[in-house]
Formats: sequence, C-alpha cells, structure tokens
Amino acid sequence: MRIEQRPEFQIHLQNLKSKEQLYLETIFSVANGHFGVRDSNPLQGNNPNYRGTPGLFINGFYDYYEIQYGEKYTGYPVNDQVINRLCDPRYIRIKIGDEDSSVNYFKVDTVDKNMDMQTGMLHEIFSVTTPQGKIFNLIVESFASVEAANVYGIKYGIVPINFDDEVEVIKVHDYVNQKTSSTVSDVRVNESQGHLQLDFLDGYEQPSYLLTTYKSQQGSLLTFNGSGPKLTYFKDENNHWGYHATYFGKKGTQKEFEFLFSIGAVYPLVNAQMYADQYLVKLNEDIKNTSFKSELMASAQVWQTFWLHSDVEIDGDPEVQLSLRFNLFELYQSAGKDSHTSIPAKGLSGNGYGGHYFWDTEIFMLPFFIYTNPELAKKILMYRYETLSVAEQQSTQFGFKGGAMYPWRSINGVEASAYWPAGTAQIHIDADIAYAIEQYYEVTGDDDFLDNYGYEIIVETARFYMEWGNFAKINDQRRFVINRVTGPDEYSAVVDNNYFTNKMVKFNFRMVQKYAKRFENTELSKRLGLSPKELNRIKEAADLMYLPFDNEKKVKLQDQNFKQMNKLDLSKIDNNDFPLLLHYHPLMLYRSQVNKQADTILADVLFPSGYSEDELMRDFDFYEPITTHDSSLSQAVFAIAAARVGKQDQSYNFFSQAIQTDILNSHHNTANGIHAGSLGAAWEGVFYGFAGVINNAGTFTMNPKLPARWNSVKFRIFLYDSEYIFTIYEHEVHVSLLSGTGTTITIAGAKCDLDNESPEQVVKY
Ligand code: BGC
Repeated sequence: MRIEQRPEFQIHLQNLKSKEQLYLETIFSVANGHFGVRDSNPLQGNNPNYRGTPGLFINGFYDYYEIQYGEKYTGYPVNDQVINRLCDPRYIRIKIGDEDSSVNYFKVDTVDKNMDMQTGMLHEIFSVTTPQGKIFNLIVESFASVEAANVYGIKYGIVPINFDDEVEVIKVHDYVNQKTSSTVSDVRVNESQGHLQLDFLDGYEQPSYLLTTYKSQQGSLLTFNGSGPKLTYFKDENNHWGYHATYFGKKGTQKEFEFLFSIGAVYPLVNAQMYADQYLVKLNEDIKNTSFKSELMASAQVWQTFWLHSDVEIDGDPEVQLSLRFNLFELYQSAGKDSHTSIPAKGLSGNGYGGHYFWDTEIFMLPFFIYTNPELAKKILMYRYETLSVAEQQSTQFGFKGGAMYPWRSINGVEASAYWPAGTAQIHIDADIAYAIEQYYEVTGDDDFLDNYGYEIIVETARFYMEWGNFAKINDQRRFVINRVTGPDEYSAVVDNNYFTNKMVKFNFRMVQKYAKRFENTELSKRLGLSPKELNRIKEAADLMYLPFDNEKKVKLQDQNFKQMNKLDLSKIDNNDFPLLLHYHPLMLYRSQVNKQADTILADVLFPSGYSEDELMRDFDFYEPITTHDSSLSQAVFAIAAARVGKQDQSYNFFSQAIQTDILNSHHNTANGIHAGSLGAAWEGVFYGFAGVINNAGTFTMNPKLPARWNSVKFRIFLYDSEYIFTIYEHEVHVSLLSGTGTTITIAGAKCDLDNESPEQVVKY
C-alpha cells in the first residue's frame, strides 16, 4: 500500500508559529491510547544536561505519592496518582571514532519535523555535530501503532556529512524513570516521579523488562527487537543487554536501523511477576516476523479507516481545517481503547494533570466518538462501569448509605484531588457520566450497554444525589436543593444550588424514571433493590428540583447567591495576570462574579430544547463579559451558544480560538501536554454549533449556520444503526445514507425520510 502524502494532513515544523522545544515535544508526540511517546532529542536519554521533558507514558500506569497537607481533615485523599514518566524509547547512543554521545556533548539541531496524520508517522531530521566537529544527519521515523496497541516502531538513518570514520550504534534502555530538565511551577503540573523498578528478564534473546511500581503495586512488561546492518544482541560495558552495530561510516552514505517495541498492558504487580513469561511470549508475537514497514502500513490502514468515518472537511478555511484535523488526530491518539482506561485530560502527550481522567472525557470528548466510532465510545464508557464499585465505596466512606461517588479526577477510580473546593466538590461528575450514557444510548440504541452497565450507573449516581440533596422550602415552595457544591466554573466554589449541577441531576433523576419500566422485575432491579417508593421519591425530587433564576434580569443564575456578589472588572486586570488562578487567592475569585469557564452557558448548550432564542441570548449576554476562559474548555462552549443565538461572528471567533488551543499554544502550557477536552469541544463546535445539531428523545434535527467564510463543511456520523454523510453549504444541505436502514431526520424544519429506496436528499434552507 502506498499512501500519497496530502499536504492538508501534515503538521510541519516550518508551519508552526512556535518552535519552542517543550511545546514541540507535545505537538509531535505519537500515541495510540495505550501509550504515548513524547517527541525528544533522540540522543538525550537520561542525560540531565539536555533541555527536555521526554518520556513514555502508558495509559493507566501510575504510582502513588502521599499528598502532603498542612492540615489534613477526615476524608481527604491520602494519595495522588501520577502517571509514570518512563524511559524514552527514542533514545539511541552513537559513537563516532573516539567520541561517544553518552559521554561527550553532541550538539543536536532540528532540521525538520513532519507528522503525517494520515499514517500517524513522525518523520524527523536532525543535524548532529560532535565536539570534534564531525557532522552527521540523523533521520528518525517513528509511530505508535493503532492496529497493534502494544507496538511502537522507530527507525534511524545515519548519514555522515563531513567524515569517514568508525561508527557504533547502541540501543540499550537501562533506566526506567525518565529524568527531565523541567522546572515548572504551575499547580496544574505534577512532576512527581513514581517509585519504579526495572528488572531485566534473562533468556529472551532480546531486551525484555519487567517494570514495576513500588507503591501502587502495578507491573508492565516491555520488550524490543532490532534489525539493521551488522546489528547484534550484545552486552554493554555496564552489563546491560541491548543491540549494537559497528561499521565504517562513509560520507553521504546512509545506514538504517529499525526497532520494534512491544509495550505491555498494566497488571497488578503479582500477576505481572507471576505470568511475566507468558505475557512476554505474547508481546513478542506482535513484533517478531514482521518489520517496521509492515507494522507502519498496518497502522496506517487503521488511520485511513479513522479518517474515512471521522474526518471533517471544511472548504474555505485552511488554517482551521488543519487545526481541526490535528484535534481529531490527537483525540484518537489519546483515547484508551481497552475498556479499562479512559482519556487523560492531557492525552498521553505529557504528564500535566498527572495523567488523570476528568469530566472532560464524558462531556467534551465522548460526543465525537459516539457519532463517529460508537464501539470505541462504549469502551471509553466501560471504564466508568469498571470503577463503579470504587465509586460506591467512596460514597459509603463519605458517609452515605449507598449510591456512587465518582472521583473528580483519578486514574484508578479513587479520588485524587488534593484541593477539594475545586475538586471533590464538583459532584456534577456523576451526572455528567449519566448524561453521557444517555447520549450514547440515544445515538446507538445499544441495549446491551444500557441493560448490563449503563442503567446501574444511572441509578447509583441518582442515589448519591438523593442523599446529598434534600427537600426544603424556598419562597414558601417545596423544592429539592443541592447545597455546598462546585459547578464547572472553578472560580466559584462550594455554592448552593449551582444551576448546572441541579439541571444535570434533574436529568439524571429523569433517566432513572425513564427506564424504570424497562427494568421492572428484572434481575438488575432486584439486585439494585429499586422499590416503587424510591422511584417515587426520585421523581418527586426531579419535579421539584430548584433551578435558580433572576426574575429581574430574566437570566438563569449560576447559583442561588450569584446575584449578590460584585463583578470583578476584567478590563482592569493586567494581561499578565491571566489565568487568574495563578495570581489570585482562590477566595478573592470565589467572592466575585467572575467565571473561569462556561457553567450556566454549558447547561444551555447541553439542554438546547425548551428555551426561546431570547432567553438564551440573555444568558449569553450576562455570562460572556464575566468569563475569562482561563480553562481551555470554555471557548468552544461559548462558540456553540453564540451560534445558537445567531451571533455568527462571535461564534466563529470563539471557535477558531478554541480549535487552535494547542496548535497556537494559546494557553502557554501545551508543553505539559495537549488539551484533549478542548480538542473534543472544538468538534462539538462544528457539530452542535455550526451544523446546529440537536439530538434527543428519538429526534435528530439540524439547523445549520455556517461561518461566513466557509463554503461548505462535510462530515459523516453514525446514528442509530446507520451511517450518513452530510455536506452543508451556505443555503443547502446534502445528506446521503451510506449504510443501514435509515431514519427520519429534520433539517431546517424539513423532514427527510432516508432509507434504501431514497438514500439521498437535498434540503434548501
Ligand atoms: C478545568 C476543569 C477541567 C480540568 C482538566 C481545569 O482547568 O477548570 O473543568 O476538568 O482543567 O482539563
């Protein structure tokens, strides 16, 4: 197979505005959802004299470290979980004559880098100068296979430029914790290193290792093989096994060496130790009798399938087009695909946020997968089912009789947020998960998921809220209230009746009711002990849910007391003082009307039906001026809201900023990893914003409003059992049924019945 390199799928160094090294390490990281490898200087290894933060991250492979509190109250999380930064598999040691890159300082300059998003291959050229002035080119190709989750491939080409001399290539990986030169003082980054051990496993005729963590008691295995001229398995001067080749390098002549790694799953430590042999045999299967090229091609085929179903083609806006592709590419690179892992907020491109999963997955990234790759969406949701029992324990430890309390941030399901006011208090996470389950079911009709996993989560999360909240009188009316919680806006904490939370919880309660009949007298409802009395109470709570509203301004109130606070005048704040969280005491922000990110506006976006455009406009006009967008999750949400109320220019501005968050490094912290939630939100901007999709209660409607500069936008989606392709022009929508039996969809008010008899329709609007 030969894939033609299409320019509109290339992330090319020369076209990036920033050339800052740590930023490039993130942008050019390769990943497949199981592991990610940051880009790096390949000669760096563990040498602290080089500037860089390289490393291999395995999704779900973390260690604990004890959180140090000044005052530790009951129930505070004991441990944080931090994804392990493992040795950089890109590392190679090169000797030229009597100079050795591991001892002498070889100066490495990047000549070029290109990520081909069609195939997932990173192609780089470095120019290397030894202290004695010998210059050679190092050409590196690498990829993380999306076809075989364990496989990482790297190929080196060495070309002497100004010398003929003895060359030795050595590939030994003898350390496990990757050293970095970074000194970030950002509360959002945790640079703690796991307490890890690397055991070399003898007798495999290729380097094979057991990687174990001391505190979290996890284990993984790693093995690699190599091929190239005169490449042999050998023991270096430190008695470490690896590969080496010695040859006489000639000016202008390239020699190539390729290596395939097989990076294992994450197991409990005992299993990893006990079954190491068996696991290694299996891991080796993936990389023996094959080659860099075959594995790359197999992976590229999967990327082709990905693009076929998931690409969004914009005609008329090349910069936004490329950024959007980058976002989709990164989302697929980041998504855990094994049902045991989810999508870290920074993908697998860095250890910002410790490799934790947040609500970012369910609210901002999952919709893209639900509509373009429902099987993967199911796997991502399965992670929440896998950790349900932990969430149940957390709820009882918290002091409740039952229910499930999902963590605000975590890898293994146990709460890891050390700052509870903007962490654990965000109890909307439960309802976010329930919302995502309903959305998945709405689009796929996957009964297996709802019956065996989804409904149980919906019930247990609802139970948690029934215990947290209570019935109370407000203005002489009986209401269900949810007090002392934090909504999405992290500049307002521990508030009463956060509109977003209450609205989401109401929805969660309604879902319990909606499916109650379906589960009546089933094994599941017996196991859950769901009685008519409990169901009635949940219904009553939903009916009476308090949703704060300002009757004078006629806007939804972010929380019950939001109106009473003074506005923080954002125009008086120096540009250098953003994000505010790094410059103000949290209470200074909590006591003011200032938003870090979309909160009430997000509720408007997630529940688009039932409000007039005027109402939505009032909300928008109230919240937009007080929002800093210090969270990268904010702008895309405002883009959707603006599109819905017809503020086209503002919508496009928000959208184009959101979509370029990482490509332009607009939050100045892409060096710590991509902003995966923001990347997903940008897709939502196209789908829910410009295409104007509303999909609930069995209906799919589209009310497009294209940005003025776009000639058209084209995308595919799966809906119910069918796949469709839409092309939206300024005044026309073309839709075709590609597979499945079809359904009725409404475009700009016109009903279209799509089936195999009439698979295509054109609607003018
Ligand atoms: C945002 C949260 C988000 C987290 C991880 C924070 O800055 O305020 O909403 O979940 O980042 O992306």
